[in-house]
Amino acid sequence: MAGLLKRDELMSIMIHFSNITKQFPGNKALDDVDFSVEKGEIHALLGENGAGKSTLLNILHGIYPDYDGEVEIDGSKVNFKNANDAIEYGIAKVHQEVNLVTELTVGQNIALGYEPAKKGLIDYEAMYEKTDGILEKLGCRFRSRDRVNSLSTGEMQMILIAKALFHNARIISFDEPTSALTDREVDRLLQLIMELKAQGITILYITHRLDEVYAIADRASILRDGKYICTLQIKETKKDELIRHMVGRDVSAYAVRNQELCSSEEVVLKVESLCKNGVFEDISFELHRGEILSFAGLVGSKRTDVMRAIFGADSYTSGSVYIHGKKAEIRTPKDALRYSLGLIPENRKTQGFVKNFNNAVNMALASMDRFCSRGFVNEKKILENCMYYTGEMNLHPADPEYLTEALSGGNAQKVIIAKWMTTDADIIIFDEPTKGIDVGAKAEIYRLMEELVARGKSIIMVSSELPEVIGMSDRVIVMREGRIMGELGRKELNEEIIMKFAMGG
Ligand SMILES: Nc1ncnc2c1ncn2[C@@H]1O[C@H](COP(=O)(O)OP(=O)(O)OP(=O)(O)O)[C@@H](O)[C@H]1O
Ligand SMILES: [Mg+2]
Repeated sequence: MAGLLKRDELMSIMIHFSNITKQFPGNKALDDVDFSVEKGEIHALLGENGAGKSTLLNILHGIYPDYDGEVEIDGSKVNFKNANDAIEYGIAKVHQEVNLVTELTVGQNIALGYEPAKKGLIDYEAMYEKTDGILEKLGCRFRSRDRVNSLSTGEMQMILIAKALFHNARIISFDEPTSALTDREVDRLLQLIMELKAQGITILYITHRLDEVYAIADRASILRDGKYICTLQIKETKKDELIRHMVGRDVSAYAVRNQELCSSEEVVLKVESLCKNGVFEDISFELHRGEILSFAGLVGSKRTDVMRAIFGADSYTSGSVYIHGKKAEIRTPKDALRYSLGLIPENRKTQGFVKNFNNAVNMALASMDRFCSRGFVNEKKILENCMYYTGEMNLHPADPEYLTEALSGGNAQKVIIAKWMTTDADIIIFDEPTKGIDVGAKAEIYRLMEELVARGKSIIMVSSELPEVIGMSDRVIVMREGRIMGELGRKELNEEIIMKFAMGG
């Protein structure tokens, strides 16, 4: 309670959430959440998928104007009706779904709705001058007259930060900002956030990547199941302790193989000299039955492009793919499924589920022939399938009728993973399987992968998380800029050697 704080403590508080409760139909997303964020600190917001992190930020930003409790900014109670109210108050957000008007210029996007005017008309000169000044300060290589549609995801994110500065933001929040960025862009962003802090801006930062928390955060507040657990000084807190508060139990050494390795000599997939002009070149490898083969490399090393080509989602220039020793003609993902080859895409938010469909139907969607017989849909089987994966992956809420669209980001990802596991393909390509997924659920996904290989299936995993590459793989292929740089057996695996290949050393 604010009343219990001493006077000098009160003066350094920027945001105070007091007794915030947010009820969605049939689901309490936040339950009496009460804590403060200090002026000028980088404050991480941590917790499992569905803990309520994004919901709390949406309340701060006026996106959910209806809630119980109070939000105080710099000592004054606020109740924003929409996101523009919050922006005018100096509270800006840089969230993952970058919403920009691609037909407009960079400067128009930054100033949108707040363009400087002269005699009732937009003063473009002044607008571009001001926005260029901000872009320069941010070290961006593009300028305000450029079109947005020529920019990368990382650059679009910079526009959102520029927009925050345009509105003289006192508070900027980031919700999983690094999940679509290349490694270089991540470094740049973290550095920039430190610079914003140095200018006195208060930062709220949501991530599932604890290394980012340790790189930049001063303190972290933890939510679990909609409840506030505690706030910790990062410097004084070990990773294990942080995780224990998030999950409510010990999760140690979770990216490990618990069962015996079961890879056999049998080659189930062979890729020979696959090439796509200007993208990747001379990709050759074999995948064995019962094997987990990982593709490591920096983000941008073209691993996803290779996998999409094998799966028939993209074309390639030359080369061949053999499945069970026979040359496979895979032109579309549908062809791939006929060869019992599945791919769980990296970009699950956009290539994943159907809006207005519930979890049970979304999970069954890629395997409808298995759930239909003689023209009838077997709803009981669809429900059973959903309950199985709901249990295995700790889906929250555990309700097959829940709309996937209304799930938290990480839980929606679990539904999509379940959908591809439901297809029961013999060869499954997992592209960044644990991106956006919390530590507890990661462990469950690793167990499912182990079970698949124990049943004689084979897995290719594209992953940028070295601990899971090292812990889970039978074998690792490292790529760099569209080429295979090396192959490592399980016994040779360690971070240094993978990074050496990935960076071309
Ligand atoms: N618009 C909505 N309608 C109904 N329920 C919702 C809505 N938005 C969120 N929820 C529910 O509120 C809870 C908290 O969700 P929230 O998105 O805040 O989680 P999160 O901590 O951000 O998780 P993640 O790490 O997966 O992004 C979840 O159970 C979710 O299903
Ligand atoms: Mg979220």
